[in-house]
Amino acid sequence: MSAQREQSVRRLAAPDIAMRKGRLPIVCLTAYTAPIAELLDEHCDLLLVGDSVGMVLHGLPNTVGVTLEMMIMHGQAVMRGSKRAMVVVDMPFGSYEGAPETAYANAARIMKETGAQAVKVESGPAVADTVRYLVERGIPVMGHVGLRPQSVLVDGAFRARGKTNIERVRVVDEAMATAEAGAFCMVIEGVAEPLAREITARVDIPTIGIGGSPACDGQILVSDDMLGLFDWTPKFVRRYADLRGEISRAAQAYSEDVRARRFPAAAETYFATTAK
Ligand code: KIV
Repeated sequence: MSAQREQSVRRLAAPDIAMRKGRLPIVCLTAYTAPIAELLDEHCDLLLVGDSVGMVLHGLPNTVGVTLEMMIMHGQAVMRGSKRAMVVVDMPFGSYEGAPETAYANAARIMKETGAQAVKVESGPAVADTVRYLVERGIPVMGHVGLRPQSVLVDGAFRARGKTNIERVRVVDEAMATAEAGAFCMVIEGVAEPLAREITARVDIPTIGIGGSPACDGQILVSDDMLGLFDWTPKFVRRYADLRGEISRAAQAYSEDVRARRFPAAAETYFATTAK
């Protein structure tokens, strides 16, 4: 990229995403590191520094143990690696569910220390006042309804929502509360298609599906899932690569070369005396 073009790239922000409602599909992926952000940037409208980082990169069993410091560190890396995509940083469990003032202090820290364009919270009636509080004070908020991973200890296993009427009503309430509180868009995770369709029709902000069906205004996947870095693929994921296989093959070839003294060769050695 020329220096001139590099300077002229404008990073997308919440209003750009919000105005895509019902128009061009919104392309989102998760990113946690600078080099991956750099690769994804030109293909995505929005990069989410998801708290899934705890499970994906840190080996945690769920997202509950993720800290504000972890989110800030990964948010900084993704901002350094990207130029054009909007960057949204997840607020981790425990950083926003209490008093709105505390949520504001934590969200402001994320915004100041990372330079990201918005935060994301797992949303619904219980945090609607907080979403409103943040938005009214200049912090764009992305909501997250349906399957909410931070509630896994209350709700139980990761499974699709919206098959029963009680669940359907609950998820619609979450979505309506999120939109009315002023979020600029919302993730809909793990819901039955008719429910995603109903919510997308009823709210005036874009819906971003992950296991949320094609009815949503945009789609997001955990990058490591779609790149094939895990041996288990959830139903809603399409694998666009087999990086797990590639990495394993590369590591095997390297180990065989080292053990057979084929690596390093003369071409990979400084001032080799064995060069032919
Ligand atoms: O943390 C995350 O990666 C997310 C996505 C699953 C939307 O919230």
